[in-house]
Amino acid sequence: MRAPWELRFICWCLSWLFTAFGFPFESNLTEWVRQANATALGCEGHMLTLSCAGQEEGLKINSAFWGRNDLKTCIPDKPREQMKMCSPVEPLYAVKKLRHVCEGQPTCGFPVSDAFFEKPLCPGVSKFLKVVYDCRMMSGMGAK
Ligand SMILES: *[C@@H]1O[C@H](CO)[C@@H](O)[C@H](O)[C@H]1NC(C)=O
Ligand SMILES: *[C@@H]1O[C@H](CO)[C@@H](O)[C@H](O)[C@H]1NC(C)=O
Repeated sequence: MRAPWELRFICWCLSWLFTAFGFPFESNLTEWVRQANATALGCEGHMLTLSCAGQEEGLKINSAFWGRNDLKTCIPDKPREQMKMCSPVEPLYAVKKLRHVCEGQPTCGFPVSDAFFEKPLCPGVSKFLKVVYDCRMMSGMGAK
């Protein structure tokens, strides 16, 4: 049976709205940016914490690079073997993972490691994570 055209129209409208404004139940972030495009760098094997200034602000992850695209950042103790370039196999994997773990939270800490990303990348190469994020006001504060 074919869905009536009204139903298909509603589905189309909803999918357009979700694409345009983001899925409404995913986070409480508003469009009100408190800090735009802050950057954070974490070397493999260390903890990285992304933080906004206040509890009423939430993280919005704009981009993330996990790998090694230069030979100057995060120089390991034993440079020779570990200092190799390493491009991510799936360029959007890191940003998706960080959005899943951190988005909408005022602060988010995690180990910069293959274990955290759950996918080994360039074994034996010392990698780093570069994150660009916004701090945005959250809606629904105190609504609990
Ligand atoms: C959104 O805000 C409500 C009310 O404060 C809270 O219960 C809920 O956990 C928040 N959702 C997220 C994804 O932070
Ligand atoms: C943040 O960076 C992105 C990409 O470079 C840019 O499009 C955007 O305008 C920047 N946001 C602000 C508020 O500067």
